[in-house]
Amino acid sequence: MYYIDEELKQNILSEAPSDEPARQLFFIEECRKILSERAEELKRHLTCCVNTFGCQMNAKDSEKLLGILTQIGYVPVETEDADFVLYNTCTVREHANVRVYGRLGVLKHSKDKNPDMIIALCGCMMQEEQVVEKIRKSYRHVNIIFGTHNVYMLAELLFDYLCTGINRTEILKGTDRIVEELPSERKYPFKCGINIMYGCNNFCSYCIVPYVRGRERSRRREDILREIRNVAAQGVIEVMLLGQNVNSYEYDFPGLLEEVCAIDGIKRVRFMTSHPKDLSDDLIRVVRDNPKIARHIHLPLQSGSSRILKLMNRKYTKEDYLDLAFRIRQNIPGIALTTDIIVGFPGESEEDFIETMDVVEQVRFDSAFTFIYSKRSGTAAAKMADQVPKDVADERFGRLLALCQSCSKEQTLKYQGTTGEVLVEGTNAKDPSYLSGRLSNNSIVHFKGNSGLIGKMAQVRLDEAKGFYYTGTLL
Ligand code: SAH
Ligand code: SF4
Ligand code: F3S
Repeated sequence: MYYIDEELKQNILSEAPSDEPARQLFFIEECRKILSERAEELKRHLTCCVNTFGCQMNAKDSEKLLGILTQIGYVPVETEDADFVLYNTCTVREHANVRVYGRLGVLKHSKDKNPDMIIALCGCMMQEEQVVEKIRKSYRHVNIIFGTHNVYMLAELLFDYLCTGINRTEILKGTDRIVEELPSERKYPFKCGINIMYGCNNFCSYCIVPYVRGRERSRRREDILREIRNVAAQGVIEVMLLGQNVNSYEYDFPGLLEEVCAIDGIKRVRFMTSHPKDLSDDLIRVVRDNPKIARHIHLPLQSGSSRILKLMNRKYTKEDYLDLAFRIRQNIPGIALTTDIIVGFPGESEEDFIETMDVVEQVRFDSAFTFIYSKRSGTAAAKMADQVPKDVADERFGRLLALCQSCSKEQTLKYQGTTGEVLVEGTNAKDPSYLSGRLSNNSIVHFKGNSGLIGKMAQVRLDEAKGFYYTGTLL
């Protein structure tokens, strides 16, 4: 294996700078030396595979992690028979956790075949003590574990493991520090996510995110704008500003959006997610007046019942939500409204559920993510009485899904026959003579075209609405 002797390790450690990001750049270089020797012995490249679960925040973190790994010398591959396999985990619902455990079982067999394989876990699941305990006890083939607050430390942890061969866990409970300026390997050359804030202070009673992502921290405006100018200079034309609740960005979110739109080369600006309680008229005006801002607002409803919303600690009522949704639709022509909805929250009665259906019927969302409530230990809702039986929740879920699907279909039909600007994202997996991309309102469009258009804006006629997507013709 790779392991170097203790004295050499101590010598290297004594030279490591203590400030960031210099320290991590130092460890990247040290890992690179160790692994390039190993690659020579094996007479092949060492490969890595980063697998991402969960939301856009995790996707963004994975780009940072992949950036570090490629600098170290790993060649990224899609399959999990790689020399370094990293799962960036999500714990928002129980299902996400179950999937990770299942796949860790499979990885054990791959590792038996490749003794060079290193397995690492990070992300939101790792911020839960009982999860880490279980993994250290029952999944000993996992070599490196870290959390959401120390993503930037990957090279340092890997260096330690390469030196000692001893499994390493390093989780920070929280942080007030934001380490930037490390390499990042973007999934797409033409679009990327940009963190504008980290963490969440809202403590919606069902949600684990504030516990695993920590308190809200807004990045400084100059830092955000500098990062976007940099990626724009490298060819990025679409950015998505990321935060659990972008409307509570500390230094004026609408103003930030305007400044981002003014950056040379940026053609489209998205943002995610908007909490209804904080969405201002100023934001509505800025979206309306800036054609570069995508015609899409993701506005999680969660429930249509004011009584349940109160128990959820969402801080708005059914009427507040409807009023906001109508104001958005009235003021911003062509805007798509999408949402998240939970069914089966503790105490949800049939009447409460009917209120949710009523909001969907009135707002007619362009698209909706629907979830069955999942009990997350440590959250306020986990202790509430009246957990809804599974069969009742399943039945409601079915009704809600059918309604949401018919609303999506109806909304896409509205634009059938019109022309729209599509950012072409890639070729179609099923038929490579087709390209796929997204409209400003986030609808997906498939049309025939040459792969030279990938990463560019194209004018496309929307011939046929197919429910969630269109088939179109390049103009
Ligand atoms: N910050 C975002 C949401 C992040 S989590 C926001 O507030 O909109 C994404 C979605 O997962 C949430 O909107 C919610 O609908 C769903 N979700 C969160 N916790 C859940 C739970 N315990 N059970 C089921 N769905 C949940
Ligand atoms: Fe979770 Fe609520 Fe924060 Fe969204 S706003 S991440 S749902 S606590
Ligand atoms: Fe999941 Fe963490 Fe995002 S729990 S939804 S990956 S913030």
